[in-house]
Amino acid sequence: MAKLLYIEASPRKERSKSIKVASALLEAYQANNPDDEIETLDLWNKELPEFDGYTIDAKYQVMHGAGFDANQEAAWNRIVELCDEFKAADKYVFSVPMWNFSLPYKLKHYFDVIAQPGQKFSFSPDTGYSGLVTGKPAANVLARGGAYGNDDPNGLDFQRGYLKLLQGFIGFETIHEIVIEPTAAAPEDVAKAEAVALEQAKEIGAKL
Ligand SMILES: Cc1cc2nc3c(=O)[nH]c(=O)nc-3n(C[C@H](O)[C@H](O)[C@H](O)COP(=O)(O)O)c2cc1C
Repeated sequence: MAKLLYIEASPRKERSKSIKVASALLEAYQANNPDDEIETLDLWNKELPEFDGYTIDAKYQVMHGAGFDANQEAAWNRIVELCDEFKAADKYVFSVPMWNFSLPYKLKHYFDVIAQPGQKFSFSPDTGYSGLVTGKPAANVLARGGAYGNDDPNGLDFQRGYLKLLQGFIGFETIHEIVIEPTAAAPEDVAKAEAVALEQAKEIGAKL
C-alpha cells in the first residue's frame, strides 16, 4: 500500500481551479489504487513554524556538522518533524495557483521549512548538492489567471519553473505537469481550458 501526499496551496477551495483539476486526478488515482492512502496537506490550515534566527542558525550548524544549543535544537526538532511527514509519502500531488507570477507565500513558506540539509538535500564540496527525495513521482497542477504557454516568451512565469527547480533540487526526477490557463477569461475559454486539464488529470491520475 502506497501513500500519496496531496499538497493544496489555494485558499479558494470550491472556487479553485487548481483544486478542481487536482481532485479529478486524485479520483482517477484512487479508482486505480483503491488500497492506497491519500493524505491531504492543506497549507491554509497548517501551522508552519517561522523560519527565524534560531532555525537558520540550526540549519547552518547542520551544514557545518556542528551541535545545537537548546533554542536551535527546539527549532530544528519542529523542522525535522515536518520533513518526516513529507518524506513518509511515496507519491506527491501539488495544486498550485499562480500568485504574482510565482507561488502563493504559504507554499514558499512550506518549501523554506522542508528544504533542509540532511533531510531533503546533502552537500559535499566534491560533488555539490544532491537531492534526497529520490525515486518518487510528483504531479503539479498549476492554475493561472492569464495564459503563459509552454515557452513563456515574455519570461513572466516564475511559478512553473520555480516549482520544478525546487522539486528537482530536493531530488524529484519524475514530475508530471497539468496547466489550467487562463482562468480569468471569457467563460467559454475557461471551460475549454478546464476540459483539457480535466482530461489530462484523469490520464495522469491513472498512471501516477
Ligand atoms: C494574490 C493573487 C495574485 C495573482 N497573481 C496572478 C499573476 O501574477 N498572474 C496570473 O496570471 N494570475 C494571477 N492571479 C490569478 C490566479 O492565478 C487565478 O485566479 C488562478 O485560477 C488561481 O488558482 P485557483 O483557482 O486554484 O485558486 C492571482 C490571484 C491572486 C489571488
